[in-house]
Amino acid sequence: MILVTGGAGFIGSNFVLDWLAQSNESVLNLDKLTYAGNLGNLRGLEGDARHVFVRGDIGDAALVARLLAEHRPRAVINFAAESHVDRSIHGAEDFIQTNVMGTFRLLEAVRAHWLRLPETERTAFRFLHVSTDEVYGSLAPEAPAFTEQHAYEPNSPYSASKAASDHLVRAWHHTHGLPVLTTNCSNNYGPFHFPEKLIPLMIVNALAGKPLPVYGDGLQVRDWLYVGDHCSAIRRVLEAGRVGETYNVGGWNEQPNIAIVKTICALLDELRPRADGQSYAEQITHVKDRPGHDRRYAIDARKIEAELGWRPIETFDSGIRKTVQWFLDHTDWVAEVQSGAYREWVQVQYQGAA
Ligand code: NAD
Ligand code: DAU
Repeated sequence: MILVTGGAGFIGSNFVLDWLAQSNESVLNLDKLTYAGNLGNLRGLEGDARHVFVRGDIGDAALVARLLAEHRPRAVINFAAESHVDRSIHGAEDFIQTNVMGTFRLLEAVRAHWLRLPETERTAFRFLHVSTDEVYGSLAPEAPAFTEQHAYEPNSPYSASKAASDHLVRAWHHTHGLPVLTTNCSNNYGPFHFPEKLIPLMIVNALAGKPLPVYGDGLQVRDWLYVGDHCSAIRRVLEAGRVGETYNVGGWNEQPNIAIVKTICALLDELRPRADGQSYAEQITHVKDRPGHDRRYAIDARKIEAELGWRPIETFDSGIRKTVQWFLDHTDWVAEVQSGAYREWVQVQYQGAA
């Protein structure tokens, strides 16, 4: 069995679904079910005994210790986090609690468990920490992409909290010998993406006839990776990554935000044309920029390719088309996640501009 934390969130639920589609090894899924956690993502696993769901906090040391002792997973994959930069700007408390304190408590519980394992199990055990390219800070337009050697220069409360968690993971290996692996990935997109993030927000707002709020000039650059490719990278690192190493994961697909938004509009124009014959691009509005907005991220993913033979399968064209189609096909899921709490967030963040 493996223990997945945050397995009801966007990437975690895709990971659990992919894992169980490809392997018979069970998953113990520990998730607090914050606003971002959604058991509806895992509906396809109802009645599947290989998926054991526990609602709980990675920072609950007693719970984690009990789960580890009871289920004896051979690996822990830590997705659980507060993940939205804009929310971290409005209030960082939950980010520090989960991303920093939660990771610390999880590491301590896992270390105590790992130390008690018989030698063969202890040697095979892995703690894989899922992190982000945002810990490296912002790149100048022509600067080379982030390699694993790039200094940590986090700029947002979110990225600072993730950087802190990465450092804790590193220290638990260096000092305590815990067999850890860390992945730093670029922006994901795909099914079950919560519509507070750029791509799903633009799709659902476009279809609802609402403004498409582009921050500032829209020329900030991100590297986009289809979520299924992130999941395959994590599986590969877990399988063959060298203990103590960090692997950057990316899609070789840098694009300015405005280009992403225009691509989404063009796909919707084709797949679900507006009744008035106009383009969805008419709905684009430029709004106030994000404070401290990082201008550019780019991932150099040569290490994971050279060492582990991983490369993304989806191109951006194929991945974004699948994603737009998924949202068109899953209007019930969208309606379900747009609860009162979601509407409150949209009001706080966009104040009527979206
Ligand atoms: P998400 O916000 O969609 O999901 C996070 C999940 O963690 C939710 O199910 C939530 O309920 C759960 N959770 C939050 N606090 C918890 C706690 N204290 N204990 C247990 N569960 C808790 O996030 P995501 O986009 O799926 O990201 C998953 C991980 O991948 C995060 O660590 C994030 O930093 C990292 N990451 C995300 C991206 C991206 O583009 N989304 C890219 C690179 C790395
Ligand atoms: O790079 C990896 C990171 O990608 C992950 O670690 C984070 O968890 C994930 O949320 C994501 O962070 P970003 O801040 O890059 O993602 P987001 O979708 O919030 O924004 C993408 C870009 O689009 C960013 O430059 C801000 C911009 N944006 C976003 C929203 C929500 C807009 O212009 N308008 C918007 O309404």
